[in-house]
Amino acid sequence: MYAAVRDHAYRDDREQPFHKNKKSTLMKPLGLGVLGLGEGRSIISAGVRSALWDVVCLCDTNARLAQERCAEFGVEQYTTDYEAMLADPAIDAIGIYTPDHLHADHILAALAAGKHVICTKPFIDDLSRARELLDAQVSSGKAVMVGQSTRFFEPFMRQREHYESGALGDLVTVEASYSADHRWFLDKPWARQAAFKWLYGGISHPADLVRWYLPNVSEVMGYAYLSANGREGGLVNPDTYHFVLKASDGRIARVTGVYSCPTVPVERDSPMTCILRCDLGASQADYHELHYAWTVGKQAAIESFESKRDYYFRFGGNSHHAGEYQNYIEYFARSLAAGETPRPDVREGIVTVALMQAMDEAAQTEQPVRIADLLGRYGLEGLLAETAR
Ligand SMILES: NC(=O)c1ccc[n+]([C@@H]2O[C@H](COP(=O)([O-])OP(=O)(O)OC[C@H]3O[C@@H](n4cnc5c(N)ncnc54)[C@H](O)[C@@H]3O)[C@@H](O)[C@H]2O)c1
Repeated sequence: MYAAVRDHAYRDDREQPFHKNKKSTLMKPLGLGVLGLGEGRSIISAGVRSALWDVVCLCDTNARLAQERCAEFGVEQYTTDYEAMLADPAIDAIGIYTPDHLHADHILAALAAGKHVICTKPFIDDLSRARELLDAQVSSGKAVMVGQSTRFFEPFMRQREHYESGALGDLVTVEASYSADHRWFLDKPWARQAAFKWLYGGISHPADLVRWYLPNVSEVMGYAYLSANGREGGLVNPDTYHFVLKASDGRIARVTGVYSCPTVPVERDSPMTCILRCDLGASQADYHELHYAWTVGKQAAIESFESKRDYYFRFGGNSHHAGEYQNYIEYFARSLAAGETPRPDVREGIVTVALMQAMDEAAQTEQPVRIADLLGRYGLEGLLAETAR
């Protein structure tokens, strides 16, 4: 019954977002400044290959890294001074890839300088600055998009398209997980600080996927645990999470993340996955395997996007996935050109952070937490209803 579909044709007639020829578009390229050049490497790779962007300047407090990235990608300018980059009129947008706890300050500075913002996930790592960020975005009139990379990975885009076609029917439940052996990440000094939480760094992916399908998630309960492996690596916050979520219409969902344990072979357990169970069909998008599997009635298939592996994973094995960044910066540029808001925007980003903060509180209190109550405490009442429409 199962058909293994290689490099499925569903997307072949779609406009490919990958441009080598900078002259292939009539749109004036946007100037990009990149802040933070670890994961920032992926957006630089995307920008230099895009007809829609010019990478104008790189910025990192580590000058040697900035020089290396300039040499790697043929970018001509770098600085260790963020304010200097913000003062450059050739830059339209800042891509922010600094440690999680610095995002709020870096976004606010970019908006104050009149720049659009693409900020990596997690957008911010608690709600304390959320009202200030929302007000700053509104008064600046500039676009702020959260770089929720997984939404822009081939099997997940295909799953969304399939769901939106109506073929799967109405959503009953969604289950998303992201589990990986990320003990290597603890070499980064900021990962061992109290401010670092896998709840934001890791769970932001499955939390966003669930909210993409169930934007009206209203309540959460669950547990978190810090494993011996994580504690040995210097982690101070949990690395193991299981949560159950409820939407305002009664539907339920599940989010899981485990970050300091070996993983099951990918043939049996995908590191990142999103399962939609609907009334007419079911579907699963998988990460490194580049698979999308679905059932509708008596039909079923496993689609592979293997031929796009080199597009998505350009360097660093599977640890960097620049193709997603290519997709999202080009989507961002096209949205601005069309006068549309690139998503997830600041409002959606804040509510996803509220979901993660609610998870944190639920795990600590061992009680269910309502997201609207939490948002209300930060002067953001109404935001859940506004983004759930
Ligand atoms: N899938 C994804 O979208 C994805 C994947 C990995 C990391 N990330 C995110 O990217 C961000 C950075 O993670 P990383 O793994 O690259 O960390 P990293 O520590 O490797 O890199 C951060 C860089 O920021 C620089 N930096 C720190 N403070 C700065 C400042 N004030 N001004 C300028 N530069 C500064 C550091 O020197 C460093 O080079 C995090 O928020 C992380 O969650 C996203």
